[in-house]
Amino acid sequence: MKELFGKTKSGEEVYKYTIKNGNYSLQVLTYGAAIHSLKVPNKDNELIDVVLGYKTLLEYEKTKTYYGMCVGRIANRIKDAKFILNGIEYNLEKNEGENTLHSGYSSFCFKNWYCEEFVINENPMLKFSIKSYDGEGGFPSNVEVACIYTLTKDGQLVINYEGQCDKDTIMNLTNHSYFNLSGDYSRTILDHQLQLDCDKYVEVDEKAIPTGEILSTNNTAFDFNNFHKIGERINQIPNGYDHTLCFNDFNEQLAKVGEVRCDYSKVSMEIYTTMPSLQLYSGNFISESEINKDGSKGVKYGGICFETQYYPDSPNNEKFPSIKLNANSKYNHATIYKFNIC
Ligand code: GLA
Repeated sequence: MKELFGKTKSGEEVYKYTIKNGNYSLQVLTYGAAIHSLKVPNKDNELIDVVLGYKTLLEYEKTKTYYGMCVGRIANRIKDAKFILNGIEYNLEKNEGENTLHSGYSSFCFKNWYCEEFVINENPMLKFSIKSYDGEGGFPSNVEVACIYTLTKDGQLVINYEGQCDKDTIMNLTNHSYFNLSGDYSRTILDHQLQLDCDKYVEVDEKAIPTGEILSTNNTAFDFNNFHKIGERINQIPNGYDHTLCFNDFNEQLAKVGEVRCDYSKVSMEIYTTMPSLQLYSGNFISESEINKDGSKGVKYGGICFETQYYPDSPNNEKFPSIKLNANSKYNHATIYKFNIC
């Protein structure tokens, strides 16, 4: 189903697509290919919405919190808004001091994507596509990207990303959904229990730029190898979690990397991905100025992001797994969020 959601400042029509499968339903906007709503059953079989979404299109257009959006070409930060590829320096848009966050103002999240609906093996799918030209946002190569959402009857939201380029470039796409498994936007996620298969994390400086060091999570507030409440040790970290945790067994194959549980709703969510890491971001910058789709005000720690991706600032750190995409080769990334009752 397709409904008009609003018009952008420049007059483009933005649509909201809805797909359903069994007890699950998903709404995605053409703007930013943004997940706007995701309903799953709770312990009493009531349908609850487990992601944050803004009330109006204007908020998606001016966002600094990126609710539910598909971020690209490069997720997270690039130091000093520049990188060198094949000996050539590329200069990007500075949108966070001297650095680039989430690809600046030309990010894929600020584009109105083209959407097609499919059903494959009885699973409804939404395929969002965009093109970006050589030099857009400072990045080399024309690229074509698709972000495909599939909803299965057993509660999986599957996100497949596909990309191709005609020159050597870099690519690192993610989804910026804020999950709150209580379904109640006035609650924080501090009581959610989290488990992540991560013995290592990426050290960052005071501007959240990687120092180049990969540190052990052992005996730190980043150790989620066993379940811990997100709020249990969050005060040990200035401003809360906003860090890249590295998966133990990365080999580009889809693998389970963690799980989050909410005792209030008894909803749990397993995370599977082909990516080497995720940005664990506890909604530290959500403020009252963010208006939720039900009209309520945003709450600090009101949602938690599991942004599956390569490490931040990879092009400037040779030791990190490479995000180079060779001319005429394909980019593929899959992430699955799977819902259960715990
Ligand atoms: C990412 C960043 C955070 C913040 C959010 C958006 O998770 O790592 O620092 O910028 O996006 O608000």
